[in-house]
Amino acid sequence: MIAAPNTRPWQPSSGYDGRRRGSRTKQRQRELHALADSDLDQWAQWLLHRRHGGDPEELRRALEFLHPVRDRVLDNAKVGVGETVLDVGCGDGLIAFGALERVGETGAVIFSDISQDLLDHAWMVAKQMGALDRCRFVLASADDLAAIADASLDIVTTRSVLIYVADKRRAFAEFFRVLKPGGRLSIFEPINRFGMDRFPRDAGPAQELVDRVRALYEEIQPSDTDPMVDFDERDLLRHAEAAGFSEIHLHYEAEIAPAEPRRWETVLHTSGNPKLPTLAEIMAQLFTPEEAARYETYLRPRVEQGLGSSRGAMAYLWAVKQ
Ligand SMILES: C[S@@+](CC[C@H](N)C(=O)[O-])C[C@H]1O[C@@H](n2cnc3c(N)ncnc32)[C@H](O)[C@@H]1O
Repeated sequence: MIAAPNTRPWQPSSGYDGRRRGSRTKQRQRELHALADSDLDQWAQWLLHRRHGGDPEELRRALEFLHPVRDRVLDNAKVGVGETVLDVGCGDGLIAFGALERVGETGAVIFSDISQDLLDHAWMVAKQMGALDRCRFVLASADDLAAIADASLDIVTTRSVLIYVADKRRAFAEFFRVLKPGGRLSIFEPINRFGMDRFPRDAGPAQELVDRVRALYEEIQPSDTDPMVDFDERDLLRHAEAAGFSEIHLHYEAEIAPAEPRRWETVLHTSGNPKLPTLAEIMAQLFTPEEAARYETYLRPRVEQGLGSSRGAMAYLWAVKQ
């Protein structure tokens, strides 16, 4: 037996957990770990493989950035022993497993995501930890948490998820609805609008190729309508207030810094977010072999020497429902 009876008020009625996954056999769970990119949904492909391009050094660097972010999100939420936390868009469980440690043996964490493959992945990890009795897994979108009862949770967390949600206003309303009075919301979101224009205008003989890459990115994620870039930190604050949160804190951080050297192979096989192809895929789609070689001649030394600068901004927001 892997989970306790459904007696807790926050128990989702239409989510799934490890016991009710008829079509998801143990074999399937084992396979998930070994699956190639193409067999996973786009979210799982990216989180488990494509964000670090299979490079352990890139993964180490990502985690070096992510662990302090996780800790700040949980600190801001003031997660305490015995509490119930919902992590919306849990992915492979960065925030949710951190919360699980903090709530201890008497608390619980609901992992929710729109990716079945990532819920499967998190379920497997929780099982290996022997923690399934303190976890629930809910397939749900941030803007429709109907599987979670009103006023049933102590804390809602979410990291880098609203950026993919078109109706952010509705997501905030859902966060407010599922929290108990006195419940806390804690969010981290990159503010991608800030880093928008990262393509050079002085690429010499490669400029035409750079412009074609820029145009493809713009086609995939139009800068005026895509949910990833149609908001900034003030919109997050506005949505939180409109949802009904009365105490709201916002910390915004922006940085322009010299780029760090990176391995060319890693950059080729990495994509910036789950909705984007890798650079290798973009080059294969756009360029003839001669153009691809010319683009590499231009870009590779810049990548490997860390030329240019990187731009990034992010927001931490936390709020209390009175
Ligand atoms: C960048 S990952 C972040 C994962 C995790 N929160 C973390 O901190 O590592 C984005 C996650 O959001 C999920 N996601 C995308 N759209 C969503 C939506 N509308 N509702 C809930 N989750 C969503 C994806 O499946 C993915 O797991």
